[in-house]
Amino acid sequence: MNRIIEWIDARIPMSNTMKLHVTQYPAPKNFNIWYIMGSLALVVLVNQIVTGIWLTMNYVPSAEGAFASVEYIMRDVEYGWLLRYMHSTGASAFFVVVYLHMFRGLMYGSYQKPRELLWIFGMLIFLVLMAEAFMGYMLPWGQMSYWGAQVIISLFGAIPIVGDELTTWIRGDYVISGATLNRFFALHVIALPLVLVILVFLHLIALHEVGSNNPDGIDTKRKKGSVPKEEQSPFEFHKHYADKYDIVDSVPFHPYYTVKDLVGLAGFLILFALVIFYAPTMGGFFLEPPNFEAADPMRTPEHIAPVWYFTPFYAILRAVPIKLLGVILMFGAIVLLFLLPWIDRGNTRSMRYRSIWHKLNIFQFVISFIVLGYLGVKPATDIYTMMAQIFTFLYFAFFVFLWFYSKNEKTKPLPERLTK
Ligand code: HEM
Repeated sequence: MNRIIEWIDARIPMSNTMKLHVTQYPAPKNFNIWYIMGSLALVVLVNQIVTGIWLTMNYVPSAEGAFASVEYIMRDVEYGWLLRYMHSTGASAFFVVVYLHMFRGLMYGSYQKPRELLWIFGMLIFLVLMAEAFMGYMLPWGQMSYWGAQVIISLFGAIPIVGDELTTWIRGDYVISGATLNRFFALHVIALPLVLVILVFLHLIALHEVGSNNPDGIDTKRKKGSVPKEEQSPFEFHKHYADKYDIVDSVPFHPYYTVKDLVGLAGFLILFALVIFYAPTMGGFFLEPPNFEAADPMRTPEHIAPVWYFTPFYAILRAVPIKLLGVILMFGAIVLLFLLPWIDRGNTRSMRYRSIWHKLNIFQFVISFIVLGYLGVKPATDIYTMMAQIFTFLYFAFFVFLWFYSKNEKTKPLPERLTK
């Protein structure tokens, strides 16, 4: 075994890369449950790619064949139902995990200097993930696939001058048709997954260059020569880190966090299996009832709503009576997240040591996001529209408040070393 490893190492830096990025990566010792989501997102990514490859073996990407081929996978292909439910549940699990992962970043200020680029890569992942999920939902060619795509693509029509041309270009036809399905299939199975994998790779490179933040939001990699030897972490870390920094309060990723992540993975898989085996449609939230009927361009479903992970943004879109403005606000809601590292002008990262205003602001932001998500699945009645307007206002207010108070915020003194 050793000789094989030596043989490979003489040709590609395998062991060194493993030590650098996995086994001897210095990880702050106070990671909590919120730090499991990144690894879980990686697991879900692999699940989506593997089950996706198997689904593609029997799926037919044409307007005539798509719906029937999905039924065929569900009924006749050996374990086809399992592959499909793993993939459809995986899509929702991806967003659950990624939203929690982003929330962690928000709580502990992980987007702040020097992790801005890491955050930007994360946000690009989020955008591509949304496009990937949207196109995937079109593939079964059910009623919601068709009409959901109709609503979303028509949004681009609101753009002045080029709008109409743009929607025709996206659809590849004057209406949503087999041509649209074909191109979405190509993007869903190869183009976007490829981009996603590259972005995740860059995300991790960016993380490992600057190092992980932690729930206290203080640096565990200190200036070389600033910490006495006996106060530094006694473990062996890769020289890429150890030569550059004095490392405090950290442990090597393996075995400490490989073991901890495995516990998180076991918990996740139990929940994942429960959904797949007992509630694969999750009461219409993961797979909507109209999508079990074949697409019919002559019959609009009574109520069109996107899948739950899009609904907060959909609610923002619908809150505004002027379509173009709604589209701008919806995209603006995402652009502001990209800009978070610069909107937050504070130096203290973790909300543990920030003002009560910051805690309240994050709290109201999360509540607004959840309420908007709820409103996005409801019909746009007067009362719901008014609520959507209020919570859209609060969503944007989060960024405005943050910009103002973060400059001269009264924060608590930071501890010298990690607290737990
Ligand atoms: C496919 C999706 C994603 C994967 C596979 C992924 C993977 C990871 C992994 C493995 C880590 C290290 C472990 C951890 O801290 O949890 C991490 C850290 C991080 N990710 Fe992601 N990520 C994804 C999406 C995102 C998104 C959408 C954002 C935010 C816009 C984001 C922001 C961050 C930040 C700020 C950190 C550093 C956190 C800290 O050190 O406190 N990630 N990511």
